[in-house]
Amino acid sequence: MTTLLEVEDLRVEFLTDAGPARPAVNGVDLRLGAGETLALLGESGSGKSVTSRALMGLVDFPGVVRGSIRFDGTELVDAPDRTLRRVRGTGIGMVFQDSLDSLNPVYTVGAQLTEALQVRMGMTRADARSRSVELLEAVGIVDAEQRVDAYPHQFSGGMRQRVCIAMAVALRPRLLIADEPTTALDVTVQAGILRLLRGLTEDTGMAMVFVTHDLAVAKQVAERVMVMFDGRAVEEGSIGNVFAAPSHPYTRRLLSAHPGRARHWRDLTKGEARDDDGEETHRAG
Ligand SMILES: Nc1ncnc2c1ncn2[C@@H]1O[C@H](COP(=O)(O)OP(=O)(O)OP(=O)(O)O)[C@@H](O)[C@H]1O
Ligand SMILES: [Mg+2]
Repeated sequence: MTTLLEVEDLRVEFLTDAGPARPAVNGVDLRLGAGETLALLGESGSGKSVTSRALMGLVDFPGVVRGSIRFDGTELVDAPDRTLRRVRGTGIGMVFQDSLDSLNPVYTVGAQLTEALQVRMGMTRADARSRSVELLEAVGIVDAEQRVDAYPHQFSGGMRQRVCIAMAVALRPRLLIADEPTTALDVTVQAGILRLLRGLTEDTGMAMVFVTHDLAVAKQVAERVMVMFDGRAVEEGSIGNVFAAPSHPYTRRLLSAHPGRARHWRDLTKGEARDDDGEETHRAG
């Protein structure tokens, strides 16, 4: 498989008046091919979001990024702004952990979606508009035909999050960085979004880095997992292997902190795709 994303020795430090703080990301390596999904797990503060933002070139001063991030052969660390602008959107898309302020409050959701589709995908206004409605439907917004003309503040937090997911996938990115995109959503909506994302990786070859705290979610979207602890990748491998035989104490604790989920893992590695609470986890269509 050809490598789409290749990260070597990624380091991120935030400078303080007292000098550099403890590194937020401390020597992370990762590789991802087209159509592959990597789940990024780890306790709060372990560096998942900072890693995600670094991949998008979005670590701002006082953050300092070192190492190498090659996307489709282009080096992104210290790349000029025009390179990053070209890569963002159609190359790498991102759903932020805190996406409430990543929508522009001044424009309707539809205007923001159609503008992106017209400018970046070269669609006509009419095509962009109907595609926007389809995208809102795809993320489970009911009455999408009407809601497309609403402003972000007219949506609930969960719906805004879904609009952000629609925006990120609208441009058909080759790599989607999704930082806990479904954490705030109820299980039914979450299941729909996970199916949508999973479908995109299978149908369009989109690669994905999916940050989550939820082991069941990781299993649903990803085949590989990387576990972060204190800025380092302490464990990496296929989900089946890592959860069947976790080698790092943190991963073992993570599993034992989710007793129900751990049972679920063993069930899954035996091939029983059923969730603890009876929720349907297989893909429909
Ligand atoms: N802008 C910033 N300035 C200084 N330190 C920061 C900044 N952003 C993040 N950090 C620090 O970097 C470390 C990693 O943070 P990060 O947000 O990546 O954690 P996380 O794994 O995403 O946690 P969570 O699961 O809570 O989202 C933390 O110690 C955090 O305090
Ligand atoms: Mg985070």
